[in-house]
Amino acid sequence: MKKTLITLFLPTLLILGACSSDNERAIEENSSNDAIESSITTTSEVKNPEGDGKALVAYFSLPVGDDLDVTTGASVMEANGEYLGLTQQTANWISEELKADTFRIQADKSYPTDIDDLLDVAAEEKSNNDRPSLASKITNLDQYDTIYLGYPIWNADFPMAFYTFLESYDFSGKRIVPFSTHGGSGLAGTVGILEDELSNSEVVSNALSISRNNVADSRQEVIDWVDEVK
Ligand SMILES: Cc1cc2nc3c(=O)[nH]c(=O)nc-3n(C[C@H](O)[C@H](O)[C@H](O)COP(=O)(O)O)c2cc1C
Repeated sequence: MKKTLITLFLPTLLILGACSSDNERAIEENSSNDAIESSITTTSEVKNPEGDGKALVAYFSLPVGDDLDVTTGASVMEANGEYLGLTQQTANWISEELKADTFRIQADKSYPTDIDDLLDVAAEEKSNNDRPSLASKITNLDQYDTIYLGYPIWNADFPMAFYTFLESYDFSGKRIVPFSTHGGSGLAGTVGILEDELSNSEVVSNALSISRNNVADSRQEVIDWVDEVK
């Protein structure tokens, strides 16, 4: 039976970084089961010809499952007949409003599409302080003055692949605008981590944080926030 959100994240928050032998077993089982893996797209960069090319929306997002019930652990919403991750949908609204280029941060590996298996893999990555390699790179970061950085909260933290992204580029002198979706933890201190990691950048403190339960109805909130921080 699927775990509910409450049972999903309370233990996660209480025992951050812990890696049980159950987790280890699940990962071993998972690594030999390639029937439940998500696919990787390497075409992550989207140019917006209407924009001035000075703002970039870079985000990590991992749609889970194949239904729209966010309360059972799926993190997808349907837009124009397409299933999107919740951070991905938020990123799309931001880039539409700004006419900004977008970049999807993706690990160069497949993650389980089953939420329970994914939680185990993510907990293992975090307890190992992994830096999963990424599927694609931004080749023209210099051209951007402002970078909107989007991520889901995983284990009251960034997904580990997001750390790989942060450590792969020189963000010095850039304006960084964080946005996030979550299942109850809010920003979980991630803006402070960004300030530490990107100490030579201006990290905007007015980060956008949306509960997964509200993302579908949050388009106007996202647009209003963009108008405040841009
Ligand atoms: C592996 C994993 C760990 C998560 N850990 C947390 C957490 O610690 N706190 C929280 O509020 N939400 C947590 N969530 C929920 C996600 O932050 C939330 O569903 C988010 O909207 C997913 O965004 P996405 O669809 O763009 O990937 C977790 C989700 C996953 C898949």
